[in-house]
Amino acid sequence: MYTSGERELTVLDAVSFELPVGQRCAIVGPSGSGKTTLLGLCAGLDRPTSGALVVDGRDLATMDEDALSRWRATEVGFVFQNFRLLPTLTALENVMVPLELQGAARGARQVATDLLDRVGLGARMDHYPAQLSGGEQQRVALARAFVNSPKWLFADEPTGNLDTETGAPLADLLFDLDRERDATLLLITHDRELAARADRVLTMRGGKLTDDSTTNPPAAREVATL
Ligand SMILES: Nc1ncnc2c1ncn2[C@@H]1O[C@H](COP(=O)(O)OP(=O)(O)O)[C@@H](O)[C@H]1O
Ligand SMILES: [Mg+2]
Repeated sequence: MYTSGERELTVLDAVSFELPVGQRCAIVGPSGSGKTTLLGLCAGLDRPTSGALVVDGRDLATMDEDALSRWRATEVGFVFQNFRLLPTLTALENVMVPLELQGAARGARQVATDLLDRVGLGARMDHYPAQLSGGEQQRVALARAFVNSPKWLFADEPTGNLDTETGAPLADLLFDLDRERDATLLLITHDRELAARADRVLTMRGGKLTDDSTTNPPAAREVATL
């Protein structure tokens, strides 16, 4: 629920699902249906006004701010639609940020360098975001999202600001990295092809989950519940 002035707006209503470890799950649905809000809650970027969000037995909704930040720093990777790179930092420095926040400065440069090589930007590590194309910026953002070896990888329309030619290889890279690094993926997308590659597709409409189609049932036990 969001409060703006006197008005209260219930954005998510009775949404409940479990995300098994190892699953690659897509969220689809019309604009304004609550997808970004749901992702922000799952990633611990926002807190729900009511309800629980249990990850590995701990409720994010009641975790204190420090514990929540620590959890995000060590276990969460996030890819935004509009890249959100820091303009005053080079590609390499941007990728190193999550490790520095975690206090893991030693070895950070090497890990970040390896990931930038992996996403095909080895030759552009010293470039600033403004010197990179949209696709290249999103590759940097992808490297940054994986740099802390996250257990949970959240992506909010990661190809939404890219044309098809740029978006398709970016999506390949996301799925490849996700598989290589064993992250559980929750991905918002408008791209049917991208959604079709997930193990499961959740559909949202008007703040509710209206469809949950599992194409590849997982056998895992650890879950996040909202
Ligand atoms: N910070 C906010 N304050 C008030 N309303 C918000 C806020 N963020 C999102 N909303 C509203 O919540 C609804 C769902 O938004 P969002 O989660 O961004 O949907 P989607 O990602 O599916 O397009 C929309 O009606 C939007 O206007
Ligand atoms: Mg959105």
